[in-house]
Amino acid sequence: MDGSRSTLIQHLWRLRSDLSRPQQDISVAAQLASRDASLFGSAAEILLHAVGLVAQRLHFLTWQIEMQAWLQKSSAEYDGSPNFNLDTAYGTRREVVELLLRRMERSGVERPAVLELGVYEGELAFHLLRAFPNMSYVGVDAYFNDEFAPGSPQNQLFELVHQHVAKRMEDYQDRAILLKLSSEEALKIVPKGAFDLIFIDADHRYQHVKHDLEHWSEKVRPQGILAGHDFSPEWPGPVQAVFELRKSKPVNLGMSSVFYWYVGVDDD
Ligand SMILES: C[S@@+](CC[C@H](N)C(=O)[O-])C[C@H]1O[C@@H](n2cnc3c(N)ncnc32)[C@H](O)[C@@H]1O
Repeated sequence: MDGSRSTLIQHLWRLRSDLSRPQQDISVAAQLASRDASLFGSAAEILLHAVGLVAQRLHFLTWQIEMQAWLQKSSAEYDGSPNFNLDTAYGTRREVVELLLRRMERSGVERPAVLELGVYEGELAFHLLRAFPNMSYVGVDAYFNDEFAPGSPQNQLFELVHQHVAKRMEDYQDRAILLKLSSEEALKIVPKGAFDLIFIDADHRYQHVKHDLEHWSEKVRPQGILAGHDFSPEWPGPVQAVFELRKSKPVNLGMSSVFYWYVGVDDD
């Protein structure tokens, strides 16, 4: 049996055991409601929770099946492939990155240091800053697109977004900083091994993603996490870069197109 088929069977086994709980809950809700009409509200609450869980597990399974099919097809197109592992983390990119940091917290990292390359409106940044009161954060974003002239409407919009995010960042000024720099400029001033987790989500063109993954890796401390976004069929740049850089090495894939590996562990 090939690897991906046996992994799929493992996931189906897990799904079956995960679904036994909502199955029991639905039966309890039905009995409550039929025996005592005044408990209808509690029954509805249990039912909603159970239905939510079933929907989540099915969504997760669909994602896993889709990913396995796509990875198999992509691996055939490249000359070799990373050793992919589909992470159990469920949710949006914010939730998946949060979970990676929660795991780190559980392993004893009390004050995680995070750098995000590509901040834009700070959706991920502000989510993490709220979720981790002990986290320190460095955001790097050029807020400038060199395909457009300085002063063009596109770059004016970038400037407005930058001002807005910089203002919001002031609420966290004791532990967060926003650097309006290009990746290349920031690489010159950020020390090596300084971060527990670096999230790469800037220029999605192949050469740029490859460059960023190669050069930001040394800024992660040993056994820290180098992660990135948009490992998906819609974004060929990150996909090609990851396939080429991580041939025969582990790459973890989370939902919502998050990818990551442990620096200096998985690399060996
Ligand atoms: C997809 S958005 C980032 C979204 C953000 N990570 C989040 O999760 O909310 C990409 C950002 O990368 C920035 N960017 C693109 N190329 C860059 C480069 N070479 N250096 C620094 N920032 C860059 C853009 O200005 C843009 O704001």
